[in-house]
Amino acid sequence: MKNFINISDCSSVELRAIIEEAKKRKQNRSGLNKSAPDNDKPFEGKSMAMIFEKPSTRTRMSFDIAVKQLGGSSIILNPDGIHYGKGDETLKDTAKVLSEYVDIVMLRTSSHKNLEEFGKHLDIPVINGLSNVSHPCQIMSDILTYEESNGSIEGKIVSWIGDGNNNMSNSLIEAAGKFNFQLKIGCPKKYAPNKTILNWSKKNKVNLIVTNKPYEAIKDSDCVMTDKWISMNDKVNKKVKKKILKPYQVNKKLMSAAKSDAIFMHCLPVGRGEEVTDDVIDGKQSVVWRQALNRVHAQKSIIKWCLD
Ligand code: CP
Ligand code: NVA
Repeated sequence: MKNFINISDCSSVELRAIIEEAKKRKQNRSGLNKSAPDNDKPFEGKSMAMIFEKPSTRTRMSFDIAVKQLGGSSIILNPDGIHYGKGDETLKDTAKVLSEYVDIVMLRTSSHKNLEEFGKHLDIPVINGLSNVSHPCQIMSDILTYEESNGSIEGKIVSWIGDGNNNMSNSLIEAAGKFNFQLKIGCPKKYAPNKTILNWSKKNKVNLIVTNKPYEAIKDSDCVMTDKWISMNDKVNKKVKKKILKPYQVNKKLMSAAKSDAIFMHCLPVGRGEEVTDDVIDGKQSVVWRQALNRVHAQKSIIKWCLD
């Protein structure tokens, strides 16, 4: 039984296998209806419980469809509608009960500690559907999206522009180490990657450049990524943060400093006119809708990996 909490918890070989399985399964089901099961139905008779402490469109939909395509079923639990560590039931007891009913749990939480604690008490795997610390499922699906159109990501240059200290940038740094690509982060000093992830990246010899010059970060890039300036967990002065991040907006001018065939990625939801302009996100280089779709395919593979 394996949990999928951080990219850094897995070996490069395991992560590569997850991506290759996702590619293969996606190809094999071409022509099938969106929610039709794969021929081998590896999750038949099994189910997943999903708990969302925070809003979600893509993670909610893509896990539900992923489970259907694997031949299983899913149930969404609203933390306000279940005991979930409140009142008379501890988190441990909720975890023990869920372990009796379902085969795997997906949790989106504001507290990474909650996720780790929940994982400790569950007798079944738990998948991180976004925490304040990391968003590994999104980054795995982004690797899949990159490789589908542009081939192996190894040795390529990926640029992360904007908030350099959030769940997405943390998981991307971990992915740079595991998949061997160069990561250039363009962010203001105030929103640079935190010490914990920088220490991890040094220890793991990640090819990482952090600069406060957005043009330097995007130069010669194969893939440009950004994210909302104000994340769901951010307890900041929004006005101040947005003002500081303004020079890091991905617009046509900045994007033109990347390679001419670079792709643009955004995990969504997007702050249009803030971290990215409409002409970039709706432009030819953008692959954001395929990114959303690929959540399904990457997560099928992650679920399988957890249960194999
Ligand atoms: N990208 C992503 O995780 O989107 P949701 O918040 O809609 O799940
Ligand atoms: N960094 C963003 C990602 C949303 C999918 C957030 O946590 O809100």
